[in-house]
Amino acid sequence: MDSVDIIQFLENKTILVIGATGFLGKIFVEKTLRIQPNLKKLYLLVRAKDVYSATQRILNEVVEIELFKVLRDKWGGNLSSFISEKVAAVAGDISCDNLGVNDSNLREEMFREIDVVLNFAATTNFDERYDVALGTNTMAAFHVLSFAKRCAKIKMFLHVSTAYVCGEMSGVITEKSFYLGETLGESKTSKLDINSEKKLVEKTLNQLQAENATKEAVNSTMKELGIKRARLYGWPNTYVFTKAMGEMLLGYYKENLPLVIIRPTIISSIYKEPLPGWIESLRTIDSIICSYGKGKLPCLPANPDTVLDLIPADMVVNVVISAMVANAKANQYSADPIIYHVGSSMRNPIKISDLHEFYTLILLNILILIIMGTKFKSAKALYWTHGINFKDTWLLDICYH
Ligand SMILES: NC(=O)c1ccc[n+]([C@@H]2O[C@H](COP(=O)([O-])OP(=O)(O)OC[C@H]3O[C@@H](n4cnc5c(N)ncnc54)[C@H](OP(=O)(O)O)[C@@H]3O)[C@@H](O)[C@H]2O)c1
Repeated sequence: MDSVDIIQFLENKTILVIGATGFLGKIFVEKTLRIQPNLKKLYLLVRAKDVYSATQRILNEVVEIELFKVLRDKWGGNLSSFISEKVAAVAGDISCDNLGVNDSNLREEMFREIDVVLNFAATTNFDERYDVALGTNTMAAFHVLSFAKRCAKIKMFLHVSTAYVCGEMSGVITEKSFYLGETLGESKTSKLDINSEKKLVEKTLNQLQAENATKEAVNSTMKELGIKRARLYGWPNTYVFTKAMGEMLLGYYKENLPLVIIRPTIISSIYKEPLPGWIESLRTIDSIICSYGKGKLPCLPANPDTVLDLIPADMVVNVVISAMVANAKANQYSADPIIYHVGSSMRNPIKISDLHEFYTLILLNILILIIMGTKFKSAKALYWTHGINFKDTWLLDICYH
């Protein structure tokens, strides 16, 4: 697959992107608009009460952020008209039927126009409330599939999952799809019934309501329930368990829809395009680095030789685009979803000890730049020039911001 194939494929295509306000979703949106300005339309479905609020979210949280700098430089003053021509914000919620798209005219237009559906949406909290995670990572995957099946000229449904649906295993893990009701190796029971899990959630919520439980009690009970059910069936946490169940529903109900599932490992900042090093908020490995930098994590009990499977976000997006195009073009029927694991540990492993070395190197570089008079801007709009005071936490704050 070369870039010409990709650019040709994207020309005049209409793509529904779910999760465009998320880390990976916005990198995908930027990249497709940058490499193929002649795509027909991107429907960006976001949680919002109406189309106005959805559009505002897309502008504020996606188009106007630093990530779009290269595109802004390219289009200059014409960027707004380019965006309004190519991007349509849709107010919705994938935990609802019809993805929460209540305007039937818009829904019909989408069913007519959409060529590709891409689902980046998820709740990625490891210990999310079970009801929320089941709604967002499991049942929502099914809702998106049902929506995609109604699109008359659909060529591909691509769903982003996680490599950790495979649980805690070592060695080479094959790109195998789940069958409905599958459990993992160490589970104490062999049969998982997603419908019974839904009923259990409803029953627990009703019970809590009958007991007039406080919001805090509901939160903690539902979080504990998620972890308990995940461990019962062999998964380490609620996030990966509910993502695995989402995959099961997709595989079981896909019928003849072309379906690709991408399973990335731990996604890190952008490697090359459009802005090397760009990352947003604290999510996985970066939260550990920042906690360390802030002095909140004085030690990390780990084997220095343990491999951390990190993969830069732009590489994941490149895989998403290539897999989407290659499989849509191949147009070959596959009874099972086509799965891709996206990680680095096979070819370019990073060990915990490497991380410590990189971190020290970055601190030293920052220190040298500060001594040379370089200014750093923090999120709190403070500037550091020189005047090193080791009693302050300034160096750690720089790392944090
Ligand atoms: N980040 C990682 O290290 C990593 C690693 C492996 C796999 N993944 C997978 O990659 C995908 C993208 O991850 P990410 O890091 O970009 O996640 P993220 O930044 O947390 O973004 C999640 C997105 O999903 C949207 N969303 C959540 N619930 C929704 C709902 N009910 N209806 C509509 N949209 C909803 C969020 O919208 P709001 O803005 O409204 O919240 C947000 O746009 C996920 O499927 C995740 O499981 C991530």
